[in-house]
Amino acid sequence: AIPDLYLFQQFWCPSTLIKEVNNFQKQFQAKDSDIFVASFPKSGTTWLKAIAFAIVNRQCFSIHNHPLLTSNPHQLVPPVEPVYRGDVDFPTIEPRLFGTHTPFPSLPNSIMECNSKIIYICRNPFDTFVSSWIYYDKIKREPLTTLKIEEAFEMYCDGIIEFGPWWSHMLGYWKESLAKPDKVLFLKYEDLKDDANFQVKRIAEFLGFPFTQEEENNQVIESIIKLCSFEEMKNLEVNKSGIIHRFADKKYYFRKGETRDWLNYFSPSMTEKLTKIMEEKFGESGLSFMI
Ligand code: A3P
Repeated sequence: AIPDLYLFQQFWCPSTLIKEVNNFQKQFQAKDSDIFVASFPKSGTTWLKAIAFAIVNRQCFSIHNHPLLTSNPHQLVPPVEPVYRGDVDFPTIEPRLFGTHTPFPSLPNSIMECNSKIIYICRNPFDTFVSSWIYYDKIKREPLTTLKIEEAFEMYCDGIIEFGPWWSHMLGYWKESLAKPDKVLFLKYEDLKDDANFQVKRIAEFLGFPFTQEEENNQVIESIIKLCSFEEMKNLEVNKSGIIHRFADKKYYFRKGETRDWLNYFSPSMTEKLTKIMEEKFGESGLSFMI
């Protein structure tokens, strides 16, 4: 589908969310204990929401009777912007966990002024493109028509995609994570895939919920990883069908869940073009990806 996007505060905001992003920015009152799962869309948001929820609530639930077995991660960790149109309720238990795709410079001041924490996930721009193209194609918003991969790719290279340009989104959080490492933890989908155990520990420590030696001995980390794994989550009844937040069918959040699927879609010229854009945009920033 051709996305219905408007340039708002220097990012491409879906028209259905402009009011909500604006209200979030102006009205949201963050608490010290709040946790934000921030991401560029299609970068592993669902996965990180599940992991964060499982980490901070691990004392409350047994792994066999866990809310993640009966609720989609986006229901447990609601996207904060739609709260402002009444589709979604604020979480009532603390710490409150929220999802957001709002770029760093557009976040409400209250988040930066208190001790709330942000965990940000992004993904290599090749796989992010493929995952987005397929996802946006599936959730076609009639009467808009489907884009061919070449057309979608040209737009992506111009930064025109929901919450894009993707390079600005990633660099905004990247720079903040370097400047304020206690405030923003910067994660990559590929690193989570590569060594989930290490990354889950890192996330838990960052959020102030470190694992005890006893928990480590009892394989608590491994059980969280399994609970949140692609295979387990995709096969849950709750994730197989049903709409959440207006239009998104839950099953579309779980497609392939692998790295390097882009190799099945990119032509040599697309690869060359995107490699060049990444060099130009990320330059000396220190941000790089395993592709
Ligand atoms: P693919 O389209 O490459 O399969 P988001 O949650 O930000 O919308 O990102 C969606 C991407 O994450 C999709 O990638 C999806 O399959 C993948 N994904 C969803 N849940 C996952 C999980 N538990 N583990 C790994 N990847 C997951």
